[in-house]
Amino acid sequence: MNIRLASGKEIPVEMHKVRIVQKIHLRSVDERRRALEEAGYNTFLLRTRDIFLDMLTDSGVNAMSDNQLAGMMVADDAYAGGESYYRLVDAVKDVLGYRFVLPVHQGRAAEHLIDKVFLKPGQVVPTNYHFTTTRAHIEILGGTMLEIYADEALNTQSTHPFKGNIDLNKLNDVIKRYGPEKIAYVRMEATTNLLGGQPFSLENMRAVREICDRHKLLFVLDGSLVSENAYLIKQREPGYAHKGVAEIIKEMCSLADIYYMSARKNTSVRGGMIATNNEKFYLQLRDWLPVYEGFLTYGGMSVKEVEAMAIGLREMTAPEVAGCAVEQVKYFAHRLLENGVPVVTPPGGLACHLDARRFLPHIPQTQYPAGALSAAVYLSSGIRTMERGTISTDRDKDGKEILADLELTRIAVPRRVYTISHIEYAVDRITWLYQHRDLVKGLKFVEEPPVLRFFFGKLAALEDWGKTLSEAFKKELGDY
Ligand code: F0G
Repeated sequence: MNIRLASGKEIPVEMHKVRIVQKIHLRSVDERRRALEEAGYNTFLLRTRDIFLDMLTDSGVNAMSDNQLAGMMVADDAYAGGESYYRLVDAVKDVLGYRFVLPVHQGRAAEHLIDKVFLKPGQVVPTNYHFTTTRAHIEILGGTMLEIYADEALNTQSTHPFKGNIDLNKLNDVIKRYGPEKIAYVRMEATTNLLGGQPFSLENMRAVREICDRHKLLFVLDGSLVSENAYLIKQREPGYAHKGVAEIIKEMCSLADIYYMSARKNTSVRGGMIATNNEKFYLQLRDWLPVYEGFLTYGGMSVKEVEAMAIGLREMTAPEVAGCAVEQVKYFAHRLLENGVPVVTPPGGLACHLDARRFLPHIPQTQYPAGALSAAVYLSSGIRTMERGTISTDRDKDGKEILADLELTRIAVPRRVYTISHIEYAVDRITWLYQHRDLVKGLKFVEEPPVLRFFFGKLAALEDWGKTLSEAFKKELGDY
């Protein structure tokens, strides 16, 4: 919750106390360079023992609540018909308003099942923006994603409150061009991850619903970050300031035919699910569930996590839970902006994003500025971040490099895990890096997997810049 200090400054005070802790290590800059070189300058390949603050992702690494942990102890371990599932069904009905629930082992499993049932080869999926796994599943099944965001979405220095909106003219054009029968479904992603955690407005979502109704199109909501989108609607959309996060989530969900989520984010567990009020869709999806995931009442998840998900769903509607990452991200971004560091604005959910093209303007996209920046942040701070740019965009069918729309270094803020002093440390080291940005050069692949190459690809630093940067660090700041 944001508290205004007597000085007038606002800080996001943590509305929880820490009752279990895990030790973390700050390695020296020489040790960090060694670890980075072993990892092929790919932060995915670092080991956590070499990481100080793990801000790679907000997925599966959030702090669970005492109630969630307690719930895990009373989870009903049954192959079929377990009570934990029915408590999840009740929570989904109360919080999201859907009657039918299919648990899956994580978000991408939901994508797999939805595409298996609703996508035919040659069809298209218009969306506000892709997520990596979403696009991979659609393409594997012979479909194509069409990104129909408003042009403002790619402006990294914007004040637009809803950069996650679908451009309605582009949606109408897609329908005219392809015809409704070639459209598998329309997809909207809450707090659009790869645009920098940007929300859409309810006004926009309602308009998309109307267009879907007019053309009898299926409307799918990726609600992995639904509570953050609702929290940002409450803050930014006229007419919603006095509504509760819970009420806004319900309204968002009421507009979609099929909802799915990675439960690893807003509900702080490890799992996922699909939900709907349409019995026919539910039955179509249900029949594939035991083939790929598990029986209906656990869907490939541990029942402990099913129980914790039911509790997490209810908890994510509290403003201090829905807003805990949003407020830390806002604080983080504003502190960096004060120091002149280029971050994506307005700040959104899940992460603070550095704009690598403006941070490292001397590195061409073919030399992966966002990947280089992610590696350089680790070297200068021990903080692990994630490349979200051209490395995260696989080559096309002919092996040609596809240059990403945005070159972002994502500094995720796991929920209820780090404190403001951690963020102050990050601000300081990233600011130091910005002042020494000329020392950072590009990267080149030395091992490049053909699909989702950002996970396991290995790269090398051009002109051995890791050495130059760590020498400069040692000279000015010492080993740490
Ligand atoms: N949809 C969105 C919007 C996501 O952010 C993710 C995962 C998925 C689907 C896939 O879910 O990981 O449970 O299989 N995002 C993670 C991230 C991986 O780091 O942003 P999953």
